[in-house]
Amino acid sequence: MSYRLLVTGSAGFIGANFVNHWFTNYPNDRVVVLDALTYAGNRSNLAQWEI
Ligand SMILES: NC(=O)c1ccc[n+]([C@@H]2O[C@H](COP(=O)([O-])OP(=O)(O)OC[C@H]3O[C@@H](n4cnc5c(N)ncnc54)[C@H](O)[C@@H]3O)[C@@H](O)[C@H]2O)c1
Repeated sequence: MSYRLLVTGSAGFIGANFVNHWFTNYPNDRVVVLDALTYAGNRSNLAQWEI
């Protein structure tokens, strides 16, 4: 079974680490990331997973 996830705040500290953890352990799942890219969000935190 595979899942589709929506991760808000995904470019921040907790969100990016959660996305990294999830893709490392469940590479067949799909993850949609949503972030307002405030001072705390950095898109490069997710660069390795961008397609
Ligand atoms: N290196 C470190 O150890 C480190 C670094 C950063 C934070 N922290 C700690 O982590 C904790 C906080 O981490 P966090 O990940 O919860 O917070 P965060 O502030 O790191 O990230 C929150 C994310 O949510 C996004 N965001 C804010 N409002 C939004 C909105 N309306 N819609 C979409 N996205 C939105 C921000 O742009 C940001 O990317 C704190 O305890 C902090 O001290 C530790």
